[in-house]
Amino acid sequence: MYITHLDVRNFRNLKHTELHPAKGVNVLSGANSSGKTSFLEAIYLLGLGRSFRTVQLISTVQTGMESLRVVAKVKQAGGSYITGVEFGPNGFRARTNGSTVKKRSQLATQLPLLYMPSYSHIMLDGGPRYRRQWLDWSLFHLEPGFHDLWWCYQRTLKQRNHALRVHKPSWRQEINVWNKKLSTYGEQITSLREAILFKLRDSVSQLFMALVHQPLARVTMEFKQGWTRTAGLEEILNETLNYDRVTGYTRYGPHRAEVAFYVDGKDVREILSRGQQKIFCYSLALSQADLLCRIKEQNCVFLMDDFASELDIDHRKRFLALLNKLGIQVFATTIESLSGEMKAYSGIKEFHVELGRVQEMV
Ligand SMILES: Nc1ncnc2c1ncn2[C@@H]1O[C@H](COP(=O)(O)OP(=O)(O)OP(=O)(O)O)[C@@H](O)[C@H]1O
Ligand SMILES: [Mg+2]
Repeated sequence: MYITHLDVRNFRNLKHTELHPAKGVNVLSGANSSGKTSFLEAIYLLGLGRSFRTVQLISTVQTGMESLRVVAKVKQAGGSYITGVEFGPNGFRARTNGSTVKKRSQLATQLPLLYMPSYSHIMLDGGPRYRRQWLDWSLFHLEPGFHDLWWCYQRTLKQRNHALRVHKPSWRQEINVWNKKLSTYGEQITSLREAILFKLRDSVSQLFMALVHQPLARVTMEFKQGWTRTAGLEEILNETLNYDRVTGYTRYGPHRAEVAFYVDGKDVREILSRGQQKIFCYSLALSQADLLCRIKEQNCVFLMDDFASELDIDHRKRFLALLNKLGIQVFATTIESLSGEMKAYSGIKEFHVELGRVQEMV
């Protein structure tokens, strides 16, 4: 699946942008504040119904305008569809082929989207939620019941936390109910995460090896499920109840899960160079795209902000070659034009971004 036509209006500094992207790699180059990140953000809004920069969608509407609109024609196996989102005085609205899309999760399912921010190192340096999101993205797209399961867990977690804080006479009975429910959902989430990590692991290792030219030992990963492996979740929830009552918060469970990455047995943050860490983060994201493609034969759209920074020319070339080979649709922004590096690949399109205008370079 890929976007064949994109029309963005009144989105931040993008007044009106209309383009026909390539099926594969699209590189957008332009100076600071030209509108590159805004362009990616507009596609992100189309795919997920929210922004990666703000929870206040009003700040994405161009100053002085009432509403914004992003519309795309998407080609997929069996035909094309038109999907669009708008935000204005009447709030957020999404439509696909003329029918209203009620849930954001429906948007996310129809157009699987991966986004790598300019500070891609956040995948390693940021809190554990970035690694959990990495696992859960694949589960969301590959395990039909995962989204509902995840919501059930989150809802029950809130209910348990609430019961911990209020001092009702019946609190103990309530907690017993929440402990049971939470552990049922939690154990299921954990086994799904473990299984998906097993599938992603080899792909990360292979992609990383293909991208770095220096021979390195195999990548290994450690999954920390969010509580000790020597006991079931219900047992742990009961054991830590007194502590949880004091803090008013559930200390253990899949909401505390984490993944650690190692090369040659050492933490990747300590052993890899800065550029290699960036490549590692990209390998994590590409492994998700690769798995989706292999299991579901479905492509995703990959948004990469400021992808060339911290990478030398050889690594950029390797990266472009790999992206070209994977066949996913990519929108990658850079400050400097990559025309030199791109010469070898015929399918890549380059766009120049200037003062909120995006134009194809020919
Ligand atoms: N609601 C808005 N209306 C109009 N312009 C806006 C709005 N929100 C942000 N901008 C402006 O849009 C411009 C483009 O921002 P953007 O982050 O897309 O730039 P960029 O090309 O990614 O730059 P950099 O290379 O520095 O990351 C900025 O000058 C910003 O101030
Ligand atoms: Mg930017």
